Amino acid sequence: MRAGVLEQTTVDVMRALGLGERVAREGLVHAGINLTLGADLFRIDLQQLTGAAVTIYGQQEVMKDLYDAAQTREISVLFEATEVALHDFDGAHAFVTYSQNGRSHRVDCDFIAGCDGFHGVSRRSVPADALKIRQETYPFSWLGILVDVPPANDELIYASHDKGFALASMRSPTRSRYYMQCASDEDIGAWSDERFWDELRTRLGPVAAANITRGPSIEKSIASVRSFRAEPMRHGNLFLAGDAAHIVPPIGAKGLNLAVADVAVLADAFVEFYRNGSQRALDSYSERALARVRKADVFSRNFLEMTHRFPEGPSRAAQRVRLEQLFQSPEARREFARDYVGAPLS
Ligand code: PHB
Repeated sequence: MRAGVLEQTTVDVMRALGLGERVAREGLVHAGINLTLGADLFRIDLQQLTGAAVTIYGQQEVMKDLYDAAQTREISVLFEATEVALHDFDGAHAFVTYSQNGRSHRVDCDFIAGCDGFHGVSRRSVPADALKIRQETYPFSWLGILVDVPPANDELIYASHDKGFALASMRSPTRSRYYMQCASDEDIGAWSDERFWDELRTRLGPVAAANITRGPSIEKSIASVRSFRAEPMRHGNLFLAGDAAHIVPPIGAKGLNLAVADVAVLADAFVEFYRNGSQRALDSYSERALARVRKADVFSRNFLEMTHRFPEGPSRAAQRVRLEQLFQSPEARREFARDYVGAPLS
């Protein structure tokens, strides 16, 4: 499943890199989001509460902009490299080896940025005793579909329902993205499109359900809901970034934004090193990045606890109290909105 909600900070980073044109033109700026307890929609006005909004723009689109820019700027990107291995990043002369088309290659470097995802080689290259791993798997998953129909609403709707969480999202004015909480061992084969639509309709509640356009799913998948953090994010001259170092629960759409924040901070640290010979920003990279990740993780966890059914967690009554507090208290709403839109890079 690919992300689709960009924080203002992420859009700003794209703009600063000269990649801001298409997202400004095609991205959908959302000034608010909506929550529902099954009946009326409750709107959180992000723009009014924080001065910032979020932008709907698919991860594939971000990737396309990056690849196009790499090509224009003659930055070489190697595809289908196999047997990638990281060497001597604890010493002064790090290097990376890989094979491509049956030939082996070596790249000598000052630093390695390990931005190769959760299953990549970077984190696995760090000795286990140098990593502190924190992880938690939540007792449910997300069943998601992508459909080429107009979204049910012009803004996102998060539904906390007796039967479980549901989310109405989108990728464009003609492409909808819907999710529902399901069991961790859910059988995807048991979910025909029709069953999905019927259940979604129930969970989103009458107001939102009234505008659902049904259509054939072009993708349907189940994703686990978990938190993972490998600390620290620096090991000698190897810097972990993004999913290579951390996963947060999907609610709140923080994953891609955290990855962008990591590399933005790391890139600035490299610039400072090559300009001034100073290691200061490189030394503080891990703590700066982790502070943002921890905050996002707490936010996502709280958001899950307000909206998802837990086999052994907050009771439905307790969830209602928390949501109603959010609906009624301007301070609670402001804090939620600040977390949702994300902080500027610090
Ligand atoms: C998504 O569209 O994939 C999405 C949107 C909002 C979330 C999580 C995921 O909070």
